[in-house]
Amino acid sequence: MVTIAVTAERDGEPRVAVSPETVKKLTALGFAVKVEAGAGAGSRFSDDLLRAQGAQIARTASEALTGADILLKVRRPTTDEVKSLKSGAIVAAMLAPYDDRAGLEALAGTGAVLMAMELMPRISRAQSMDVLSSQANLAGYKAVIDAAAMFRQALPMMMTAAGTVPAAKVFIMGVGVAGLQAIATARRLGAIVSATDVRPATKEQVASLGAKFIAVEDEEFKEAQTAAGYAKPMSPAYQQKQAELVAAHIKAQDIVIATALIPGRPAPRLITAAMVESMKPGSVIVDLAAERGGNCELTQPDKVVAHKGVSIAAPLNLAGEVAVNASGLYAKNLLAFLETMIDKQQKALKVNWDDELIKGTLVARDGKIVHPSLQPAGGQIPSQLPQGA
Ligand code: NAI
Repeated sequence: MVTIAVTAERDGEPRVAVSPETVKKLTALGFAVKVEAGAGAGSRFSDDLLRAQGAQIARTASEALTGADILLKVRRPTTDEVKSLKSGAIVAAMLAPYDDRAGLEALAGTGAVLMAMELMPRISRAQSMDVLSSQANLAGYKAVIDAAAMFRQALPMMMTAAGTVPAAKVFIMGVGVAGLQAIATARRLGAIVSATDVRPATKEQVASLGAKFIAVEDEEFKEAQTAAGYAKPMSPAYQQKQAELVAAHIKAQDIVIATALIPGRPAPRLITAAMVESMKPGSVIVDLAAERGGNCELTQPDKVVAHKGVSIAAPLNLAGEVAVNASGLYAKNLLAFLETMIDKQQKALKVNWDDELIKGTLVARDGKIVHPSLQPAGGQIPSQLPQGA
């Protein structure tokens, strides 16, 4: 029987790589699922809940890991964890393959098959396995909820006998997966929402969500989307025009949610200190691009900076703050991926090494780092992947 191990995450990561729903489905597919006791606690997946769906609860991590064929994690596991698995076992996680190269090599050295979920190709067939989208969507939602709480004023307009409360103005910068959910969430809360992006395709998306689109729509804007659907770095001339537009707009905004990213590059600097200073005291900026340097000049990763009455928050794991949902969706992403690797009749693992999903995510095999983007000869980081994601 194919055995899947799931162990608790480290360093305060509240998410977990399995859910009651996926345990049930994996068990039905013929897998044995061994979960370290307490691993689901941060996502409110108690041992009893997981056991009721067919999981075997292991008292220790090593009991879950020993001899397992597959290890599922949220973040990169330790080399010790992987060493306990069956030789050549499959490890699927958000491996952050561009960080800590020595650590990655040590992990590869165990001989395990390492698969980085954040390298999943963004093609229709793999949409159900797209961890960047499942997690960014929740981060976009939570950014608005947090900003609303920090703002300490109402978002919707309220006309009451005692007077009128004005609607808050919310500005979303970067309309990818996180930005779209931020727009939708702010609209549901009754705010007046505007949004900007450099990709022309976003104009219609913003309008369809009932928000106002603000952008420098020149010739360069028309060409700003790559074939892969991502933003290109913009020219200094465009950046200048964009800065003027943003400066004029931002001073009237109460909440700004910044999500702008360019694959393989530092986050574009879109909000200067002067722009922050032009905002009313009490305004809030949530910078979701903090891991890659931030969209705001004053951003400090994982901190809330107070600058002349404006708060600038730069949370690094917002999806983790809605861990019940984030784990649920992440576990489903993993389940969908695993389903491509099994022979349902034989109830056995059957990896098709030529499948583009496998090739796209395969970081290491037989002790070697094999992903083209991780070769010393300066392979290209895949266009969809934020460096350091
Ligand atoms: P991302 O996280 O790389 O970037 C966020 C947003 O920032 C993007 O919309 C980008 O255009 C914008 N941006 C970059 N530079 C900017 C600047 N200077 N000013 C303003 N905005 C700027 O993007 P994400 O969320 O990963 O997705 C981007 C694209 O990928 C979208 O077109 C999305 O529809 C597509 N996608 C496709 C999927 C699929 O086919 N399976 C799955 C997920 C996303």
